[in-house]
Amino acid sequence: MSAKTIVLSSDHAAIEMRAVIAAHLEGQGYTVLDQGPKAGESTHYPDRGAQAARTVAAGDADLGILLCGTGQGIMMAANKIKGVRCGVCMDTFSARMIRAHNDANMLSMGARVIGENLALEIVDAFLGAEFEGGRHGTRVDLIRALED
Ligand code: RB5
Repeated sequence: MSAKTIVLSSDHAAIEMRAVIAAHLEGQGYTVLDQGPKAGESTHYPDRGAQAARTVAAGDADLGILLCGTGQGIMMAANKIKGVRCGVCMDTFSARMIRAHNDANMLSMGARVIGENLALEIVDAFLGAEFEGGRHGTRVDLIRALED
């Protein structure tokens, strides 16, 4: 397995799922930057998403994984950070495709929507895929141009 660094963050709705994913990633040899929160701590998903997204945008993590109740709010916040492309995935096909076609650097999931086993399969699909470039690179460049 590669020596990639993955930043992991959630709000209070996904603390248990985040711990399962952290252990899974560490077991695969990834370096995990777990940005919390701790159990019992109520947090605001925009803060969590933005912090993790800034970590990816700064190059301090190669990729990021976000969790909240639905995966939607924390994704919306992450996508406000320049250089971040985050998609919500509840299936493995989408998780593969957001890497292969959209060069997504963050994945978001909903801990109140899917179970842990599926979440781990989605994580593996996301991390196992590579950006295909070519015509998809042209389209990702068009996304980047929208940031300016
Ligand atoms: C928190 O209760 C919940 O709103 C949040 O986890 C998330 O689902 C928002 O998108």
